[in-house]
Amino acid sequence: MRTLIQNARVIDPSQGLDQVMDLLLEDGKIAQLGKSLPAQNAQVIDGTGLVAAPGLVDMHVHLRDPGLTHKEDVYSGCRAAAAGGVTSLLAMPNTKPAMDSPETVRALLERAQAADAAVYTAACVTKDLQGEELADLAALKEAGAIALSDDGRPVVNTRRLLEALEQAPSLGLTVTAHCEDLCLAAGGLMHEGEISRKLGVPGIPAAAEDCGTAREIAAAASIGAPIHICHVSTKGSVALIRDAKARGVKVTAETCPHYLLLTDKALESQDADYRMNPPLRTEEDRLALIEGLQDGTLDAIATDHAPHTPQEKADFLKAPNGSIGMETSLAATLTALEGELTLLQVIEKMSTNPARILGIPAGTLQVGANADVVLFDPEKKWVVDPEKLHGKSKNTPFKGMELKGKVALTIFRGRIVYDGR
Ligand code: DOR
Ligand code: ZN
Ligand code: ZN
Repeated sequence: MRTLIQNARVIDPSQGLDQVMDLLLEDGKIAQLGKSLPAQNAQVIDGTGLVAAPGLVDMHVHLRDPGLTHKEDVYSGCRAAAAGGVTSLLAMPNTKPAMDSPETVRALLERAQAADAAVYTAACVTKDLQGEELADLAALKEAGAIALSDDGRPVVNTRRLLEALEQAPSLGLTVTAHCEDLCLAAGGLMHEGEISRKLGVPGIPAAAEDCGTAREIAAAASIGAPIHICHVSTKGSVALIRDAKARGVKVTAETCPHYLLLTDKALESQDADYRMNPPLRTEEDRLALIEGLQDGTLDAIATDHAPHTPQEKADFLKAPNGSIGMETSLAATLTALEGELTLLQVIEKMSTNPARILGIPAGTLQVGANADVVLFDPEKKWVVDPEKLHGKSKNTPFKGMELKGKVALTIFRGRIVYDGR
């Protein structure tokens, strides 16, 4: 099958490309890039006014499959991905059962074959995410896991963290770390600061994250191993990562669209859709994250897509942490970073860099690469209506907001998986 995308602004950070041209896809691969390519036998897509970029790579997604499929499952999660321009994703292992056995990993990857995106999974560092007993990392790799994480929690026992960091490079696994000091965070529901004090709601101090980030960096540095820091939300963590990079520590890091566009002010509504962990922080933190993206301290933007049902989110004080994000990630990011990052830099953070960090075949439009493409209108404004989203859950912190930038078409392995035109 041939598809010709005509006259699009093709942006591919992997080739330093930002130019209006045509893009020919054939048999699930990128076949040709150039001006006025011949259209014969091809399905023609008019890309005029649209950006064509490598499909987004979301390296932090809670698919909830197996065991929590009332919130999301691999198929609904990948429909949400497609609607957001995401063609590859990394699933987090806090499922039920947790992704700590080869059987669970194999079963998810098997189910994912029929989904609308490339699903990769992280496996647990420790058995049942309990932080004490190391999982069989080699067996998990053999089963198809590409990363390790205890996400949802830190690896509680630092000795286990170090063992995982030691083993991971030779196994070809990326360790992605949820950085949190559980004692400092205990009982907190939102960022600890002026607003939490005004509301009388227990807070999670920035130090809970920063102490975790410092531990992770120190552990990785002590053995020269790489580590990836998840969902950075504080100015302090940006500074720690910047310093570590300057010292040659092999650290990479991601932040999330909600930290770039929202602050703890949103919590004044006492609506649990604005509650996630780490929590929305202050304006000062938000600006530090943008600076971190600009100077390369932060390599990637990932969503931490964390679906929960409306019933679970109904009570502000009792609701679980997390918000969905895949369908809004590009729009929220473009809205937050307008005038701060170029489009090429945004695609780099949302596709090329996460693909490189994970070592997966994505994030590029080079001839011969998988035909995973997102077409979007960077100027189109739209209002987020939770009822119109494609996943199972509705807990978006962007509800009712006008965002600028809209996915028009998502192509996965040469096949249109979402058409929002
Ligand atoms: O907000 C969050 N939601 N943070 C986490 O660490 C876990 C995640 C979830 O699984 O819901
Ligand atoms: Zn986490
Ligand atoms: Zn997470």
